[in-house]
Amino acid sequence: MRSHKCGELNTQHLGQSVALCGWVHRRRDHGGVIFIDLRDRAGLVQVVFDPDAPESFSIAESVRSEYVLRIEGIVRDRPEGTHNPNMTTGKIEVLAKSIEVLNESETPPFPIESEIEVNEEMRLRFRYIDLRRTEMQHKMKVRRDVTRNLRQFLDDKEFFEIETPYLTKATPEGARDYIVPSRTHQNAFFALPQSPQLYKQLLMIAGMERYYQVVRCFRDEDLRADRQPEFTQLDIETSFMNEQEIMAIMEQMIRRLFKDIIDVDLADPFPVMSYSEAMRRFGSDRPDLRIPLELVDIAEEMREVDFKVFSGPANDPHGRVVAMRLPEGGELSRKEIDDLTKFVGIYGAKGLAYIKVNDLAAGVEGLQSPIVKFAPDEVWAKVMAKAGAQNGDLIFFGADKADVVNEAMGALRVKLGLDRGLLEGDWKPVWVIDFPMFAWDEKAQRYTAIHHPFTAPSCSIEELKADPSHALSRAYDLVLNGTEVGGGSIRINRTDMQQIVFAILGIGHDEAREKFGFLLDALKYGAPPHGGIAFGLDRLVMLMTGAHSIRDVIAFPKTQSAACPLFNAPAFVSEEQLKELGIKLRKPAGKDEKQE
Ligand code: AMO
Ligand code: AMP
Repeated sequence: MRSHKCGELNTQHLGQSVALCGWVHRRRDHGGVIFIDLRDRAGLVQVVFDPDAPESFSIAESVRSEYVLRIEGIVRDRPEGTHNPNMTTGKIEVLAKSIEVLNESETPPFPIESEIEVNEEMRLRFRYIDLRRTEMQHKMKVRRDVTRNLRQFLDDKEFFEIETPYLTKATPEGARDYIVPSRTHQNAFFALPQSPQLYKQLLMIAGMERYYQVVRCFRDEDLRADRQPEFTQLDIETSFMNEQEIMAIMEQMIRRLFKDIIDVDLADPFPVMSYSEAMRRFGSDRPDLRIPLELVDIAEEMREVDFKVFSGPANDPHGRVVAMRLPEGGELSRKEIDDLTKFVGIYGAKGLAYIKVNDLAAGVEGLQSPIVKFAPDEVWAKVMAKAGAQNGDLIFFGADKADVVNEAMGALRVKLGLDRGLLEGDWKPVWVIDFPMFAWDEKAQRYTAIHHPFTAPSCSIEELKADPSHALSRAYDLVLNGTEVGGGSIRINRTDMQQIVFAILGIGHDEAREKFGFLLDALKYGAPPHGGIAFGLDRLVMLMTGAHSIRDVIAFPKTQSAACPLFNAPAFVSEEQLKELGIKLRKPAGKDEKQE
């Protein structure tokens, strides 16, 4: 149908006859001459219709935005002074000889312009139009480039791409499952995989040695800008490699990816930081290392002070008291500080104490804050020294249970870093290692796995049994600019260790057999040492394209409430279908709760 793409034409094509297909991006009538910017995936080109060809001219007069056209014409120079430097085809135009309307279009619900802000619900409802925008086409292209680049790397390293089932049994990754009723096995349900974790381990036991898959994962969890109920992982597993070897090859892959796709040189090697250091300095296990602000522990100094808010947590083994210095923060207004206090409140902080550092040389006289009176001069002197305070700074304080302080002050650190433009460097990857195996869930009164229950501890069975709360895992997360882009671990490859971990997680013998009997059995048949990682592909592409949400790099994402406004999914199903599945609804469709 066409000889060239609109966006690829340039001065090399001058004088050539071309046939183009595309959408009417814009039409302008200029005193007897009609200009149509014709758009295809490659970009825009200006097509000119003049009244010498009355038939084409009258068709051109009738077309509207988003009509689909085929035109034939000659590429010619644009007259001097009419070059458009904003268009790659801006030096040329196509003088139309003929025009054919391939299809008409109703007026689109919003213009196909990248600069125009359109509400997201609307964009998703008309996603096929939204995706026509140059910006979205670019994101889809980068996504294609990224998966192709990653596949190439792994193919060259002899990884096998192997597909694993979507209709399966629950694989715990900490979220709720999406379940699918079975018609052929009444009362039984499949679960969509939260990840292919168990399949890839079985593939290692099956002797595949190196596996990868670009794979959809399903998790019913609270959504955020970087979370979707279905998302894509680059899932990887290897045999006979230890964590250093796995991290090294993965780094190589990610460095190559950033170089090839966006011409960025990431650090070589990536820095490595322990979980405890990350929590201590940044209050987060996914620290954004571009932000030069740090939390400093001051519990020691605060044990004796006359201020319960600080001395309480300072004397509580689960408490934490920190200071964080904001260089030149003294200029913050009362209103700005109040807003920050509200902000940390979202994370459970009961307040946000602060000291304005007016004049260090003047001792407490030079410190401005209602809390200064609660402690003697020498205590504040020590705190100022620890925090690295300088005149003009603002020092923030957080005191509470450690997890509240970490969340609130960690989030404050990121907010101040971003809002006040403090970022140092563009790309800061870091491996976070030495995670605890377990976290204690106060409400449920039991341990939960920090990664998944198949992650190997770095200690022996005996040590693990003796003190689960202090056991560390052989897990590693890759964090880039504060986003967790990947996570993996060396796995348990022995039945006895796996059983102990299940037991610590409160999964009894019978439950373990019922849920994971196949794994416990498989581990008995020569399971090799193995480990792997999974990258969040959507998150990688989001970062690489500078998108604000992973929804922008997924062709058909779900909304924040996990729905699809385009298909109107999820939807009710017919009584017939339910019957076949043996399902009776507790609240039948159409009846609201009051009628129950
Ligand atoms: P994990 O649960 O850490 O590990 O997931 C791996 C990576 O997937 C991305 N990710 C998500 N992206 C978008 N939306 C979500 N809801 C979402 N959840 C996770 C993150 C994360 O780093 N089986 C293990 C991997 C392993 O041990 O090999 C796993 O799934 O970028
Ligand atoms: P108050 O005596 O409660 O008015 O608190 C004095 C200062 O301490 C105020 O600036 C509060 O915002 C702050 N504050 C209160 N609770 C905390 C807390 N848990 N962590 C940090 N600052 C707090």
